[in-house]
Amino acid sequence: MKKPAKKIVVELGPDLQPGIEHTLRLAISTKLPESLAVPAQAILRLNDMGSFTKPGPRQYPHQWNWDAAVIALGLSHFDLPRALQEIRALLQGQWKNGMVAHIIYHGGASDYFPTPDFWQIEGSPDAPTVATSGLTQPPLLASVLRTIHRRHPIPEFVREVFPAVLRWHRWFHTARDADGSRLACLIHPWESGTDDSPRWLNAISHIHPVNVPAYQRRDTVHVPGSQRPLKEDYDRFIHLVDVFRTNHYDAAAVLEKSPFLVQDVLTNSILHQADQDLRDLALEIGEPVEEIDGWIAGVRAVFDSRFWDEARGLYLDYDVRQGAPIPVNTAMTFLPLYAGLASQQQAARLVQEHLLNPAEYAPDDRTPFWLTTTSKAEPAWEPNRYWRGPFWIILNWLVEIGLRRYGYEDLANAIRRDSLALIRKAGFWEYFDVSSGSGCGSDEFSWSAALAIELS
Ligand code: DGY
Repeated sequence: MKKPAKKIVVELGPDLQPGIEHTLRLAISTKLPESLAVPAQAILRLNDMGSFTKPGPRQYPHQWNWDAAVIALGLSHFDLPRALQEIRALLQGQWKNGMVAHIIYHGGASDYFPTPDFWQIEGSPDAPTVATSGLTQPPLLASVLRTIHRRHPIPEFVREVFPAVLRWHRWFHTARDADGSRLACLIHPWESGTDDSPRWLNAISHIHPVNVPAYQRRDTVHVPGSQRPLKEDYDRFIHLVDVFRTNHYDAAAVLEKSPFLVQDVLTNSILHQADQDLRDLALEIGEPVEEIDGWIAGVRAVFDSRFWDEARGLYLDYDVRQGAPIPVNTAMTFLPLYAGLASQQQAARLVQEHLLNPAEYAPDDRTPFWLTTTSKAEPAWEPNRYWRGPFWIILNWLVEIGLRRYGYEDLANAIRRDSLALIRKAGFWEYFDVSSGSGCGSDEFSWSAALAIELS
């Protein structure tokens, strides 16, 4: 008997006509072709809400910050004007103090929690007119902008958005310099983009939620709970938001009061690379670079002493609140390669002692695919729970760029090959179980489509 075709339920953006929907659905077949470009473009079109792209059709119905940057990169391969619109929409979520918010609710509330009103951003004089969250996310935008501009010169657009991107970087380097170290800090695991990573377990164990406001999770409606953060962690996430909204998102107050205050390798590496890309853009459009040079030099001067563990040959995050390194081995340790922050010797140690070690990251019988996001040697490692171990294409992409930068071409190629093979095998999932290769989280995920295009 013929197997029934998989039913693909997709909510259409307001600009999509029913006829177009039919064509797009045909492009996303259950058996993906060798070339992923056509189905990947169809995913981006299906998640297109007109002025912005939602990361996933059901689980994530608004615009997310680092997703939007990656989506713009994917779109730029086949629809440059739409890519630029994605960036404009993201920058609408910029606060008056320069922060670009992590979620922008262009269309108002949906069934997603936290809802726009939960954040109570109107309590801050810095809040923008559009509804947003009160947090930020890793600043990939300047790097994406530079890549797009190098491939398809857009000097007018660069001139248009440069001041906003500069203000965002300035906010990271000032409002988020918690201890004068010149490193940016995070006040919520959501800001790291890696919400339930084991690197946060110790830091959040010191958060003791009191009077957690009533809330109803929606993430486990669309995705099995076994693939999402645990309830006790979610209570802490919500408690943190409550602390920030009670303090009206005042920069000094949140640094003083947030029970979660960390400097992490991922964000600081992405920011450092973004600073270098912003500098290049500044030179091209004739803007001064002294301030950016100061940020670049400042971070370079302290990066190793804060993050590098010479005994273990790893970069480790730092818990500012506890005043101690976070001794957890996750794939974020490879991000300084992406930013050019490691020496050739440090790169060799990362690769030889960790990336190629089957007890940590290298594929083996238990995990046949590059790259698990947490070392398999960590007790909290899990193959299919959110950031506890699954494969995420964004990490593969950033690590791959870093490996090429340091001359590890074969390894970079292997990581790229696995990235595309997993999508070809299972589809455009949000993340993938590193043991079985099956898809997890949201299906028809926009950044998996965008990066499939970028990597193809
Ligand atoms: C979520 O809802 O899980 C997001 O990661 C928050 O940004």
